[in-house]
Amino acid sequence: MTSSNGNGNGERKLSHVPRHVAIIMDGNGRWAEARGLDRSEGHAEGARAVRASVRTAREQGIEYLTLYAFSIANWARPRPEIDRLMELLVEFAVKEKAELRENGVRVKVVGELEDLPTFARRAVEDSVAYTADCDKMTLTLALSYGGRRDIVDAARALAVRARAGLVLPEEIDEEFFHREMSTREVPDVDLLIRTGGESRVSDFLLYEAAYAELMFVPFMWPDFDKKYFLSALEDYASRERRFGKTSEQVKEGHSFDPLDRARARAGAS
Ligand code: IPE
Ligand code: IPE
Ligand code: MG
Repeated sequence: MTSSNGNGNGERKLSHVPRHVAIIMDGNGRWAEARGLDRSEGHAEGARAVRASVRTAREQGIEYLTLYAFSIANWARPRPEIDRLMELLVEFAVKEKAELRENGVRVKVVGELEDLPTFARRAVEDSVAYTADCDKMTLTLALSYGGRRDIVDAARALAVRARAGLVLPEEIDEEFFHREMSTREVPDVDLLIRTGGESRVSDFLLYEAAYAELMFVPFMWPDFDKKYFLSALEDYASRERRFGKTSEQVKEGHSFDPLDRARARAGAS
């Protein structure tokens, strides 16, 4: 079942779009190897898929799109491959910033931008600054990102503040904790897509995707075009998110309020 209907121009209008879509863009290397090409060619083709996905997300009214572009673990790859990925990142940042700005897309970064070579860091910082006042969609690039590291960094920062007497341990709840994380400005993930056929999250948004709908698609990232993106969104629209409640409660329109859980616990004690 899908919850979509025709809108007269051949494209289907979705009944509800996820507010925050996060994508693990996997499969560039295999896409290239299957064609007898160098892995780098797969990354170049992957960069084209990034452009197309950003456009589709914007057209569909998605407010937050977070793309896993480079993980902390990816630093272990061969140096020439890392260098090529950094060049492609710069190319994307430089070439796309005008169109992103025109379309109201604000660029943000999560992860350790300082780990990147200076030329790449500068290019990314420049597109962040150039699009800072855009407010239609937030495109977050996860660069030198690790979900566990982000959680541990937040815990350490809070411990330091607690030791200095600036934070009371009893003040620390989920919301408070999230404000210490590099994803503090993005809401929870609604839909997490991984291309490339593997069913794992590879250290991506471990905290933020706690209640995300997961979608593992068999296509390699360079093949993930608008058609596949739209069908993922249709699949999402057909799912029932229950957040721990019964299906009946969801149908009755109990909306999810994260504070409900705290209230329920307080009521039970
Ligand atoms: C994803 O594609 C891109 C990055 C990790 C930067 P891969 O390079 O992991 O492609 P496969 O998984 O080897 O095919
Ligand atoms: C995840 O892909 C990271 C990115 C897409 C940037 P990997 O290819 O690095 O993940 P594993 O190694 O298969 O788990
Ligand atoms: Mg991979």
